[in-house]
Amino acid sequence: MKILQINTSARREGANSTRLANTVTARLQADNPGATVTLRDLAVTPHPVLDEAALGARFTPAGQRTPEQAARVALDDALIAEVQAHDVIVLGVPMYNFGNPIQLKSWIDAIAQAGVTFRYTANGPEGLIQGKKVYVALARGGMYRDTERDAQVPHLKTVLGFLGMTDVRFIYAEGLAMGAEGVEKAFAQAHADLEAALA
Ligand SMILES: Cc1cc2nc3c(=O)[nH]c(=O)nc-3n(C[C@H](O)[C@H](O)[C@H](O)COP(=O)(O)O)c2cc1C
Repeated sequence: MKILQINTSARREGANSTRLANTVTARLQADNPGATVTLRDLAVTPHPVLDEAALGARFTPAGQRTPEQAARVALDDALIAEVQAHDVIVLGVPMYNFGNPIQLKSWIDAIAQAGVTFRYTANGPEGLIQGKKVYVALARGGMYRDTERDAQVPHLKTVLGFLGMTDVRFIYAEGLAMGAEGVEKAFAQAHADLEAALA
C-alpha cells in the first residue's frame, strides 16, 4: 500500500486537520505493515494558484512553451504523477469561511486536467484517476455535518468523483472552537468515524 498524505491547512504547526490526517495515516499503517507514506504539506510547499499565466502555460502547446511556462506546467504535472503513483490518499482539510482552503483548491486546480485526469466520452465525463481510496480528515470550528451549510463535503465528493476517485470517506472533527471539551469530543467523534470508515 502506498499512502499519500496531503496537508492543506494554512498552518505548518498545530493544525487540527493535520493532527487528524496523521492519525488516519498512522492507523492505515498499523493495519497494513509495509505501507509506505509520502507527505505533501501545502503550507510548507505552497502550490501556485491557477492564474492567467498558469492557464496561458497550460494552453500553449508543449513545444512552444517558454521555460517559465514549461516550469509552471511541470509543477501541476508533478502533483498528478504523485496521485497516480499512490493507492490511498489522506487529505487533511480545514474549514475556512465555510469552504476549503486555497491550498486545497490549488491542488485540485492542478490535478484536474482535461485529457489527463478526466475526459469526455459519448457517454459523458469519465474520471481517469481510478482505483484510489480517499480519506478526508475534516477540521471545523463549528458543527455542519449532514446540514445544508456543509459546502465542503458535497463539493469534494463531486470533484474527486469527477476525476475518478469515487471511494471517498469523510472523518469529522467538528466543534473545535467550542472549548477544551469541544476539542476532546471532536477527536473522539473523529476516531469513531475512522473506525467506521475502516470497518
Ligand atoms: C481563517 C479561518 C476561517 C475559519 N472559518 C471557519 C468557518 O467558517 N466555520 C467553522 O466552523 N470554523 C472556521 N474556522 C475554524 C477552523 O475550521 C478550525 O480552527 C480548524 O481547526 C482549522 O483547521 P486547521 O487547524 O487544520 O488549520 C476558521 C478558522 C480560520 C483560521
